[in-house]
Amino acid sequence: MFRILELIGIKSCLLFLFLVLLVYYIRTRPPKNFPPGPWALPFIGDWHHMDFSRVHLQFAEFAEKYGRIFSVQFFGPRAVVLNGNKLVRQAFVHQGEDFLDRPYLPMSADVIGDKGLIMSNGYAWKEQRKFALHTLKKFGFGNRSLEPSILQECRHLNEAIANEQGKAFDPHWLINNAVSNIICMLVFGERFEYSNDDFQSLLKTINEIFLLQGGPWPQLYNMFPWIMRRVPGPHRKLITLLNGVIAFVRQKIEDHRVDLDPSNLRDYIDCFLDEMEKWKDDEAAGYDKENLCYCTLDLFVAGTETTSTTLYWGLLYMIKYPEIQRKVQEELDRVVGSSRQPSLADRENLPYTDAVLHETQRFGNVLPLNLPRSATKDVQVGHFSIPKGTMMVGSLTSVMFDETEWETPHTFNPEHFLDAEGKFRRREAFVPFSIGKRVCLGEQLARMNLFLFFASLLQRFSFSLPGGVKPNLEFRLGFTLSPKPVRLCAVPR
Ligand code: HEM
Repeated sequence: MFRILELIGIKSCLLFLFLVLLVYYIRTRPPKNFPPGPWALPFIGDWHHMDFSRVHLQFAEFAEKYGRIFSVQFFGPRAVVLNGNKLVRQAFVHQGEDFLDRPYLPMSADVIGDKGLIMSNGYAWKEQRKFALHTLKKFGFGNRSLEPSILQECRHLNEAIANEQGKAFDPHWLINNAVSNIICMLVFGERFEYSNDDFQSLLKTINEIFLLQGGPWPQLYNMFPWIMRRVPGPHRKLITLLNGVIAFVRQKIEDHRVDLDPSNLRDYIDCFLDEMEKWKDDEAAGYDKENLCYCTLDLFVAGTETTSTTLYWGLLYMIKYPEIQRKVQEELDRVVGSSRQPSLADRENLPYTDAVLHETQRFGNVLPLNLPRSATKDVQVGHFSIPKGTMMVGSLTSVMFDETEWETPHTFNPEHFLDAEGKFRRREAFVPFSIGKRVCLGEQLARMNLFLFFASLLQRFSFSLPGGVKPNLEFRLGFTLSPKPVRLCAVPR
């Protein structure tokens, strides 16, 4: 090594290093009037500042220090983080068209390209989002015709939980399976028994993918894709796991192709296959086999993990605050009784239960940093200039814990959603599904699921920890913010 240095000459080496740094600086220096942020190092950006186990809280600290619009460089290119209800609303709603796109992320691009519903942009995204919403509505998405199937699934879940006979168990996988069955019925046309080991292992794979996605490896991959594609590490595991879920979806599509009957379309996959013929001449609209796979994958994965994580948080809050649990149960007993299941029609007569569920979503904050967007053109936010293509993070944490919006932002307090007469009240800063044109596609389904599952669980069981201990509500930050696994008791009422 020293011999090589001697040969080339130390001065030449230093000059070369200087030139590399200069080119790097010129290529990556923030544009004029760009939002401020922590002091980034060459190549690794703000990596050295970041604690991946609590990035959403770190962003709140950066907002205190640098202001409600700040920039940070650790997802790859420099990103701008927007904080607080007014600012996120200004950008995603009032300037919605300027921030409609998803950014280019090498890892996701390497596995799914620009396909699917979540990461696609432009014409294909618009067309596929419209088609997905329209098709899922035909099968009851967001309207009452799906209710009987959800109520049936609630009964299956209750039965499985009753089989635990009040002993300590981790409800995660049962809830996961039950919630997943609803989206599975819509896209695959079938539900899976909780005793189906293959499906349970698929759910565990999806859960692991969500956990790995929040760690440092995908961020490293997005920063240095040309290196990471060639070296081993947990990012490879993530890609293998993802390919396993994709293989499951591909198989389901193949099964559907075999017995497709255009006069009897059973689910989303059937409808998509049927539609492909009509769009043969318009390739850009995305009605092809590959896109079917990734759109189905997005619906399946997004429809499973977020809702079940929210329910899991809900049960833990009920254990942590037994007086709130009691009040929910009193309301359910008074309005619904015990001889029938709670239904969607009961919702308006159950303001306290509804408020507790909303507070669970606010406080549980399962997608704390939202999904990333990018600027579709050079744009101004406040007095800052943001160049086209900049990654934008509209922090949902900053909105749902915004001290100018909530009376007691850092306390679990259902009163946030109740007026002086105890009636349910909506709040503008309640944004777990985000806002604007790219708002969660599954919001209506998630709201139905959450209400029916939560009400039905609390009607049938009282939740506690063995030995009467209170949970400490510790979280794990992956792609979602989820509780650490807990073994709890569900005692039949
Ligand atoms: C409690 C449950 C859920 C929460 C908290 C949640 C939250 C979110 C959030 C924050 C986004 C990002 C929106 C943005 O970029 O502004 C999103 C997008 C999305 N969600 Fe959900 N979601 C939930 C349930 C569901 C369900 C049940 C489905 C499936 C039917 C679903 C499908 C999607 C899809 C496809 C997108 C991408 C939309 C697009 O890019 O146009 N989500 N969700």
